Amino acid sequence: MEKNWADLGSVDSLKSQPLQEIVVGKITIALSYYDGKFGAISGVCNHVGGPLGKGKLDGDYIVCPWHNWKFHRTTGFGEPGFEEDRVPQFELKIENDHLFINTNSITNRNKLPHPPHSLGRDVIREDGPIRVVGISTTIMDSKNPRYSTSDKLLEIAINHAKNELGAQTMFIRLNDLKFRACEGYYSKSAKACTWPCSITQMDETDQLVQVYEALVHWADVIIVATPIRWGAASSLYYKMIERFNCIQNQITLNNKSLIQNKIASFIITGGQDNVQDVAGHMLGFFAEVGFVFPPFPFIAHTRGWDAEDMENNIAYVEKSEGLKEGAKDLARRSIEMAKIILHEHVSEQKIVKAGRKAQPLKISED
Ligand code: FES
Repeated sequence: MEKNWADLGSVDSLKSQPLQEIVVGKITIALSYYDGKFGAISGVCNHVGGPLGKGKLDGDYIVCPWHNWKFHRTTGFGEPGFEEDRVPQFELKIENDHLFINTNSITNRNKLPHPPHSLGRDVIREDGPIRVVGISTTIMDSKNPRYSTSDKLLEIAINHAKNELGAQTMFIRLNDLKFRACEGYYSKSAKACTWPCSITQMDETDQLVQVYEALVHWADVIIVATPIRWGAASSLYYKMIERFNCIQNQITLNNKSLIQNKIASFIITGGQDNVQDVAGHMLGFFAEVGFVFPPFPFIAHTRGWDAEDMENNIAYVEKSEGLKEGAKDLARRSIEMAKIILHEHVSEQKIVKAGRKAQPLKISED
């Protein structure tokens, strides 16, 4: 192919940075200088388009700043074992102390097929009875478990859904799962926060996959239980929902709501008060990712500001028929609402501009 040389600037100034992104016309280049030699490859990562020129050097490899894929800085080959997953290489020459690049690449991009993660399949509700998942966010020493009022009431709700209301049920205790906290891929770029979650795709040992599977693909109803900790939901609850950014981000990136026709309800208990604040947060968050709510979408219980006698709190909850009935009826209301939206008003229509994302995100295409 004909060579098309473009002047990138003086060699001395270009040497001063080990790695930089340079845009030449419509082409984005990752230009590197290491061990006395320049290298130029495409600045667009094979994965989901991360800016390689803004990454870092690891010897002769450029590490993508989004999810750490590596490409050889002069050949564009993927790291050892993935050589065929390569980005275009560009020819360079030096004349009169200036660096020139041939903007017609000398190799082509080649993306090796990566088996898609099963979470990324289409969301299709399979036939069958209403499916209810309970998610307990209580933290405790699982080898020496203690009585948790929110966990206990959730158990009552889920058992009632299964035994009396004919639902299929699942119970997830976040405390039993090993999962990483959100590492802020969204903070690098909306496009870096992928569905399935970047962590889930990179780390097979991360067990939040069970929650994603239940939430997005399996359940019609989720009931989330949390204790109140210093006036807020449990830290494990926040660790979980931060990882749901990838669900909400599909609305931003692709105008696509992964959650549709699903119900959320909540069980909130605490030694001290702040129920309405915790409930307000939970309602707002789950509304924003696409859930709808039954009438009276949460039940709650607290001992109150002056009551530090937590032993009595356990005894109270254990004995309270009102709380048990409340938990059961929360399950009933949630299931009833799921039946209404699934059987009487199933909207096949695609949700458009969901939630607060009324405006499309303008991201420059590479
Ligand atoms: S590793 Fe480059 S975009 Fe994900």
